[in-house]
Parts: sequence; structure tokens; C-alpha cells
Amino acid sequence: MKVLGIESTAHTFGVGIACDEEPYILSNVKDTFVPKEGGMKPGEVARHHSEVAPDIVVDALSKAGVTISSVDGIAISLGPGLGPVLRVGATVARALALKYRKPLIPVNHGIGHIEIGRLTTESNDPLILYLSGGNTIITVLRERRYRILGETLDIALGNMIDVFVREVGLAPPYVKAGKHMIDVCAEKGSELVELPYVVKGQDMSFSGLLTAALRATKNHNLNDVCFSLREIAFDMLIEASERALSLTGKREILVVGGVAASQSLKEKLDVLSEERDVILKIVSPEFAGDNGAMIAYAGLLLLKHGVRINIEESYVRPRWRIEEVDIPWS
Ligand SMILES: Nc1ncnc2c1ncn2[C@@H]1O[C@H](COP(=O)(O)OP(=O)(O)OP(=O)(O)O)[C@@H](O)[C@H]1O
Ligand SMILES: [Mg+2]
Repeated sequence: MKVLGIESTAHTFGVGIACDEEPYILSNVKDTFVPKEGGMKPGEVARHHSEVAPDIVVDALSKAGVTISSVDGIAISLGPGLGPVLRVGATVARALALKYRKPLIPVNHGIGHIEIGRLTTESNDPLILYLSGGNTIITVLRERRYRILGETLDIALGNMIDVFVREVGLAPPYVKAGKHMIDVCAEKGSELVELPYVVKGQDMSFSGLLTAALRATKNHNLNDVCFSLREIAFDMLIEASERALSLTGKREILVVGGVAASQSLKEKLDVLSEERDVILKIVSPEFAGDNGAMIAYAGLLLLKHGVRINIEESYVRPRWRIEEVDIPWS
């Protein structure tokens, strides 16, 4: 069985092809919109995605060496994400499903991040950290649902470091040669500036930290503020994760989402996993940020369990949370 998956929830338009036997991922092609300045404007991103979509679909099929008639379904990431951007991918997916008479499979973007992580790291019943631009979630799979044990109460860790480096003039781009600008800046700092550290149980809050750090740049060295912001934010996540580990007794940690590419976070997670004697698995950079392969693979799992959606009902779902999705393969 083979599924073509389309990712179009935010900055990246991606298409991947997954199959139900090794090597599982046959292709993974993407193009990420990077604004010249400022944040992402949904209209601009949508235009970018509609321009690149045809070539990316063709390229993903040709790299996989399959024809569209030979795939068994079209998976589409219906949410969560930005409405105008989601609609571009959904329109492409509906058109392909209709023209080639294939089932359309509704995929939650977060479930895609998690399932590609579980597949490619061969993880076994892990505590999952889903860390991305829009989410900071600590979750476990239990009785057909990803149960959320902890999350950010406001903005996500990834979004927080992006906004900070942008506001102080270090970005975009946010990442250069695999390294986030917060790390480039923090490596030149050493002194800890006092900033708010907010953990409530297993939940975290990053918005006060962001505001205080931006304010601190007025009377402290920028490198020291970057260093302090990064250390405090990551330590908050480590504390919440450690608490979730002791509550659940899990023996493995799996990190997924764009922030999983962070080398400095890995160093802290290495210490945590060593101290608690658990195995640490981190999704590879290719599958950390948004990509079509993760949607194709989650779509494949869903299709195998009979999940599909009628075109007329395939509305985009900008606020779709992972715990709303039934997980029949648990
Ligand atoms: N090397 C890196 N170190 C730290 N953060 C990184 C790195 N590479 C990417 N990121 C961060 O990952 C985030 C993007 O991840 P991803 O593409 O999964 O997010 P998203 O799709 O926007 O959010 P969501 O999955 O919640 O909808 C951004 O905040 C980006 O700065
Ligand atoms: Mg994402």
C-alpha cells in the first residue's frame, strides 16, 4: 500500500510518499517560505504554496518512482494551522483525490510529527516531547489517544525563540546551517540575566519570559540575554519532562517537531536521560520540521484502519488538537 501525503499548514509546502514496507518513506520533497523581513503573512505564504505545489507533487512522485495512479490514497494535513495556507494544500489534495478516484485521508499535523518520529527512531512506548513552532506538548499514547500531560499555557517554545531573535534583529532566517540564531547568539554569552521561570506542574509559560528578555536587551549584553533566555526556557521544559517521566514511569523519551533539531537542547536531554536512566530518541533533522512524508505515513496508518473523509466534509481545521484524534493502532 502506498499513500501520497501533502503538508501545507504553515511555512512549508511538502509532499511525501509512504509505503507499508521497508523503506517506508519513498520520497520527501519540500519548499519552505522564508519572509524577507518580519513574521509570516498568511496571504504571502498561501501564494508561495500555490506556486510551488505542482512541481513538488511531480518531483515527489518521480523521486519515489511511482505514478499517481498506483498510490492507494491522498493524505492531507487538515490542521492545525493557518486557514488560507491550509486551504491551498486541501484544494490540491481534493483535486488529486477526485481526478484519480483515490480516497482522501484527513491527517492531524501533530500526529504526523509524532508518527514519523516513532517510525524512524523505532521508539517503544515513549514519553513524547512535541516541540515545534506552534506546539510545546508532553504526551503519551494510551487507550487510543495521545494524552496531553503538559503543554505551554501560551506561546510555544519554538515560536518564542523565533520572535526573540527576530525582534532583536538576528532573523530571518531563524536557522543557519542547522543552528538556530538563538544558539549562535547564546554561544557568545556567559552571564545569567534574571528572567522569569514559569512551570506549573507539567505546564509551562513562555510569554512572560519573552517580554522580560526583550526588555533586558536594553540594559544587558545581547549575547548574555540570548544565553539566559535559552537556558531558562530549556530548563523549564526539562523540569516538566522530568516530572512527566516520574509520573508515567516511561523508559524512553522521543523528541519530535522542528525544535528537535536543536543541538543545545539535545545536550540537556542527554543529561536528563542519563540521570533517569532512560533512552533518548530524537527524530532526524529531515523529519523534524514540517514535511510531506510525515503526513503520508500517518495517512497510511489511518487508511489501513479504514479512515477516510468525503470531499464535501473535508473542511480545514485550524484549531484541531492531537488528543481529538482516535488512534486505532495503539
Ligand atoms: N536547529 C534548530 N534549533 C532550534 N529550533 C529549531 C531548529 N530548526 C528549526 N527549529 C524551530 O522549529 C520550529 C518549526 O518547527 P515545525 O516546522 O515543526 O513547526 P510548525 O509546523 O510551524 O509548528 P506546528 O508543528 O506546531 O504546527 C521553529 O520554531 C524553528 O525555529
Ligand atoms: Mg509542524
